[in-house]
Amino acid sequence: MKVRIAQPYHDKGIEKSVLSVLRSGRLVSGPVVESFEEEIAKYLGVKNAVAVNSGTAALHLCLLASKTSGREVITTPFSFAATANTVIQAGATPVFVDVNPETFNIDPQQVEKAVTSRTVAIEPVHVFGQPAEMKAIRESAEKHGLRMIEDAAEAIGAEYNGKKIGDTDEFACFSTYATKNLHTGEGGFITTNNDEAAATFKTLRSQGQKSKYLHVNLGYNYRLTEIAAAIGMVQIKKIDQLNQRRIENANRLTSKIRDLPALTPQAVIPNVKHIYYQYTVRIDNEKAGMSREEFRKKLAVAGIETDIHWPKPIHLQPWYRENFQYTPGMFPHAEELADTVVSLPVHSSLTKEQIGYISDNLHAILDR
Ligand SMILES: Cc1ncc(COP(=O)(O)O)c(C=O)c1O
Repeated sequence: MKVRIAQPYHDKGIEKSVLSVLRSGRLVSGPVVESFEEEIAKYLGVKNAVAVNSGTAALHLCLLASKTSGREVITTPFSFAATANTVIQAGATPVFVDVNPETFNIDPQQVEKAVTSRTVAIEPVHVFGQPAEMKAIRESAEKHGLRMIEDAAEAIGAEYNGKKIGDTDEFACFSTYATKNLHTGEGGFITTNNDEAAATFKTLRSQGQKSKYLHVNLGYNYRLTEIAAAIGMVQIKKIDQLNQRRIENANRLTSKIRDLPALTPQAVIPNVKHIYYQYTVRIDNEKAGMSREEFRKKLAVAGIETDIHWPKPIHLQPWYRENFQYTPGMFPHAEELADTVVSLPVHSSLTKEQIGYISDNLHAILDR
């Protein structure tokens, strides 16, 4: 059996939808992008969704609009590099703080300690689809008058205290990259209840144009294509169903892993809905009697793909070490996670048999 780590969702409806855009002759900035934005906003319960061509573009525009240039943005080193790259691209400095080693999300107490007179914003990441501890993080933001830019790249449909991530008066940034719970090949969007900011984002994504060839801002080409929106349109109508499959897959894996002391799944905090963009466990080499790489090799021999999210925290990436004074040991939890995490397949196209096959193999490899 072959079990892939990711499988971009695809069905006949998507084929039809893409073909209809191709036949329409309108490939950018058209009605499908507009409808996609409306559907996203309706789904998330937020006033505005602004589609762009990547989660990275979404973060970049929000950091620019939050006037972060020359200031500090507090974020996590346990994320994909885009989280911090965009801070630097917006002219600001990322200030990393460590994560909770159980939940993998930014530690609110460390956030509070890192606030200085130069801090302008907090950029929490909802790692693997589990919301960060937003109550405590929001309290810090309010106390110090900071902006909040949520990196919700992995969290479409996730909930915190019964409210969907993305329903915010500030900014939340989502990715619709190929492997995400809802994908458009490449793509992303910003959500906000702030109408004025949403209007600015719409100009910024298209060379700063307010109307055709009238450039009121220094903008970018961050436009989403109609074909990409057509792919997303089909999925937004079934995103709860797609997320539910991932949740069920994750719950099944967790129940099977419970009696394997070598593996510890990402801890889920109360009052959140985790939508499992990734199902990630930590491996204890001693209890496993093997290294992480040996463990992955054994799964690979059985046809089960795995991945490491992420093998190096951002502060230890070569570019960051060359350009900042970061050294190993500065964020021990993030560093330990990078050394011990393994992501197992959890995507919405997996069958019950495949989940059973993964569990059987985990036991065959790790039962001692
Ligand atoms: C946490 C996080 N932030 C940012 C991004 C960037 O999104 P994109 O790849 O769509 O630019 C991603 C996705 O890949 C991500 O996982």
